Amino acid sequence: MVIKCAKRMTFLKASEIREILKVTERPEVISFAGGLPAPELFPIKEIIEVNKIVLEEAGNKALQYTTTEGYEPLRKWIATRMNTKLGTSFDCENILITHGSQQALDLTGKVFLDEGDIVLCESPTYLAAISAFRAYGCDFIEVPTDNEGMLIEKLEKILKNTQKVKLIYIIPDFQNPTGRTWSKQRREQLAKISKDYNVIVIEDNPYGELRFEGEPLPSVKYFDKDGYILCTGSFSKIFCPGFRIGWIAGDKEIIKKYVLVKQGADLQCNTLAQMVIVKYLELHDIDKHIEKIIETYRSRRDVAINIMKKSFPKEIKFTIPQGGLFSWIELPVYINARDVLKTSLEKNIAFVPGGSFFANGGNENTFRINFSNMPEEKIVFGLESLGEVLYGFEHNSAA
Ligand SMILES: Cc1ncc(COP(=O)(O)O)c(C=O)c1O
Repeated sequence: MVIKCAKRMTFLKASEIREILKVTERPEVISFAGGLPAPELFPIKEIIEVNKIVLEEAGNKALQYTTTEGYEPLRKWIATRMNTKLGTSFDCENILITHGSQQALDLTGKVFLDEGDIVLCESPTYLAAISAFRAYGCDFIEVPTDNEGMLIEKLEKILKNTQKVKLIYIIPDFQNPTGRTWSKQRREQLAKISKDYNVIVIEDNPYGELRFEGEPLPSVKYFDKDGYILCTGSFSKIFCPGFRIGWIAGDKEIIKKYVLVKQGADLQCNTLAQMVIVKYLELHDIDKHIEKIIETYRSRRDVAINIMKKSFPKEIKFTIPQGGLFSWIELPVYINARDVLKTSLEKNIAFVPGGSFFANGGNENTFRINFSNMPEEKIVFGLESLGEVLYGFEHNSAA
């Protein structure tokens, strides 16, 4: 049988993380691969209680269709939260509820991208954003980054010399995959550039609430007075990812366009999940819950960093994130992280090679580790073992 698929299917390949996650489902594997939150922190008892209340008080509504825009009390809560935490000035109509922030990225492609358009992204960037946008036939230009975010002169040079730039995609807080955070100055500069060059920015921020130390920074959106910047957010890392509830926030006219494409995609998000979150927020203190997540992840980050300092060969560099879920490792250029993974999987240790986080490939001497998902003793054992594997590569190559 010859199946005639859409041309976009030729742009798509399986997510490397999803493939590695299949291996990591084996109980003996210590996995630094997925971006998974700690499941023992999911508020299961509270969700059971709240679910029951919602169904008893308003079952008919909770099990019925609702609007595409989403459950209004939830949209109001998100607008207020963003205004308080990120310095935005949103109301309910600026918010569309989506199936995780991932759906907001896919809808972004649907709203903005035609074949041959250019997306500018950080180098490296979130790999599932690359696949979401790529399905719409765009090309990518990677903008070089340092510890403070995109290099603004390089970004401007690209914008000056490139036709058809439609979007700039960034993750300014505790970035996936590097764990880095943009400085305030770069945020302000980017907001100005978005206006000067008339280009939409997607500010993706699923990790911003998970700050372990240091002063919180205003969002890039805070510096945007003209509506060029759209923000995505998520309950996945502060509540639980299984509910698949996230959002996109921005200029009301643009949000209306997202509503149109979401109608075609899935009509709406799960009504019960949205109502359960609102009831949880009414009856429980989410800040206290987030504080618990932060304490756990901070301590796991510290353990991971200490072990890498002690057990990895000295020429290996890694980031020390001030929040979030990830650290980014750079090996000497002669070591390929995919080869390291093959050997480490023999010892039942998994991570994600960094190459797939680069929209145009290369950089095979990098990888990402996640520290949020495992108890500390497993982090210690896993990273010590990985250190031994890495010494093997160093010696092999020197020989
Ligand atoms: C940068 C970034 N954006 C978006 C997402 C999607 O998250 P969700 O759809 O669960 O909100 C993730 C998931 O890990 C992510 O790391």
